Amino acid sequence: MEIVISNSADELNLKGAEYFERLLLTKPDAVLGLATGSTPIGLYNELIKKYKAGKIDFSRAKAVNLDEYIGLSQSDIQSYSYFMRQNLFSHINIDPANCHIPNGIVDDIDEECRRYERVIKSLGGIDLQLLGIGHDGHIGFNEPGDSFEKGTHPVELARETISANARFFESIEKVPRRAITMGIKGIMNAKSILLVATGADKASIVRRALMGPIDPRIPGSVLQLHPNLTVLLDISAAGELQ
Ligand code: PGA
Repeated sequence: MEIVISNSADELNLKGAEYFERLLLTKPDAVLGLATGSTPIGLYNELIKKYKAGKIDFSRAKAVNLDEYIGLSQSDIQSYSYFMRQNLFSHINIDPANCHIPNGIVDDIDEECRRYERVIKSLGGIDLQLLGIGHDGHIGFNEPGDSFEKGTHPVELARETISANARFFESIEKVPRRAITMGIKGIMNAKSILLVATGADKASIVRRALMGPIDPRIPGSVLQLHPNLTVLLDISAAGELQ
């Protein structure tokens, strides 16, 4: 594991974007595992800047997102599909046909999970998986549990996650209770992982996930086992690391 601590959000976002830039220079058809939430927005802005400056070409890249709320259509402004178009895809030259996100409004959720597994497999796996981490240690929407859930699966969101995500919705009642998420196996199979966390409110979970025991009650702790994990932190999120 490599931990990189940045003094400012700008520095962190730039460093994060450089991982994608280097990958796409060496492998223009790379499979990018992407994430939603507040954390990656600045990094996505840097990717957009680099694209506009002619430094990154996404024309052959593939994108696979971690998760989607069950019950929200792709046109719903709260869906992660919408988030990705708004914050990244519509500003760069990635082919929409190469952008994959679980479909949250299918009748057969289990079949959708199986379909998503097939998508990831058919792409040959993920080259670089970007991750945030929830205050309860979730990665993707893999919530704390008794075991690490392996494949893409439906989840009941933890109360803490619903509260944390309520800030994006009109009210907490509007936050979907369920989601489809890539599982721990899909994440751990990525050839490299970039975990990003910012802010003092993440300092405790960053310490517990990276320095504590590997425990499914802190899903992010499994990342300690990944052979190619880079952790990008700002000073505040790194505040509890020795
Ligand atoms: P955040 O979410 O970036 O909005 O803090 C992180 C996560 O839930 O994975």
